[in-house]
Amino acid sequence: MNILVLGGGGREHALAWAIAQNPKCDRLIVAPGNAGIAGVAECAALDILDGAAVVAFCETHAIDFVVIGPEAPLAAGVADALAAAGILAFGPSAAAARLEASKAFTKDICDACGAPTAAWARFTEAAPALAYLRAKGAPIVVKADGLAAGKGVVVAMTLAEAEAAVTDMFAGSLGAAGAEVVIEAFMPGEEASFFILCDGTDVLPVGTAQDHKRVGDGDTGPNTGGMGAYSPAPVLTPAIQAQVLDEIVKPTVAEMARRGMPYKGVLYAGLMIHQGRARLVEYNVRFGDPEAQVLMMRLGAQALDLLLACAEGRLAEARVNWAEDHALTVVMAARGYPGDYDRGTPIRGLDALPEDSRHMVFHAGTARKDGALVATGGRVLNVTARAETLRAAHDAAYAMVAGIDWPDGFCRSDIGWRAL
Ligand code: GLY
Repeated sequence: MNILVLGGGGREHALAWAIAQNPKCDRLIVAPGNAGIAGVAECAALDILDGAAVVAFCETHAIDFVVIGPEAPLAAGVADALAAAGILAFGPSAAAARLEASKAFTKDICDACGAPTAAWARFTEAAPALAYLRAKGAPIVVKADGLAAGKGVVVAMTLAEAEAAVTDMFAGSLGAAGAEVVIEAFMPGEEASFFILCDGTDVLPVGTAQDHKRVGDGDTGPNTGGMGAYSPAPVLTPAIQAQVLDEIVKPTVAEMARRGMPYKGVLYAGLMIHQGRARLVEYNVRFGDPEAQVLMMRLGAQALDLLLACAEGRLAEARVNWAEDHALTVVMAARGYPGDYDRGTPIRGLDALPEDSRHMVFHAGTARKDGALVATGGRVLNVTARAETLRAAHDAAYAMVAGIDWPDGFCRSDIGWRAL
């Protein structure tokens, strides 16, 4: 079959790498792709937020199946446009993608189906939001309702921080995303992520992971999109996974179906684990980045069968073939990230690294310039390894990092520290 993957980051490189290994895949195109993706698929220029353009591309290239990587095309209705054109796609409708695109929508769903989450309130004006903050005190969490490229959540440890976040959001710092603000009780505990395929009715877990959001070792410094991840996440024990499925995921899927917006795609449940129980922090409607890199490395070629079963509504009969393995990825970022950073700096040494089912460097922000590999983004490489133990995966990934010659890049040296 001919397959199109939408996106051009490390997540899409990992998806393409796994899909390309499956014999069902005859032709694989990634739009827009990147320099690393070009090693496993054809890359094509395409406006992936334009549903009509994506449909036209699929018709021209006889595409049988589309995998939508990031949240923006989902929120823009690309899955709806493909469904209307009769093209099979992996990813939820725009209505169902509100589980990520609107924090208040998700909280409403949780209230309606009884899913455990933090107490909350929503505001469209600063004055009542500030009064609520003062009544509740810190620590407290302030969230822009809409999509804000990872900048919309402030975990405020002081009242002053929380007030500043509310004031900035209502002053327009995040544009339309901050026109409505959700304020939530602070939840103590350890965060972890659980990835569950949903076909509107049935659900199938495809892995757990933990990422490292802060830029610096020891979880210090500003938040990022994620500086590394590992899978599985031991904090999500089988008992807690069962609790999450029974109390959070299945009720959510049932409530979405009841509202006439069945959820089809991967549900990425961000969870807070405290005293042996999980509560929902947030949903995302796509695989995490860099979590997909470790999930895809563990799933390998079967990932395509699972994504197809999900899109075709066959999850009741689908199974994951698990190995007793662990995967870990180290993100290499451009110096200065998540602030300003240089673009176009050269990266050398990748050709000498192993590339097999246990070792991959997934590219995020890279391009070829005059034949040489250069960095084009903040997060640039995902150096990923799989092994029988997390320690062995960690050591293998950092051995690869040591072979990469990129003076303008950096990484954290402690990925996996909680589980190790
Ligand atoms: N790594 C966090 C995310 O993908 O949202």
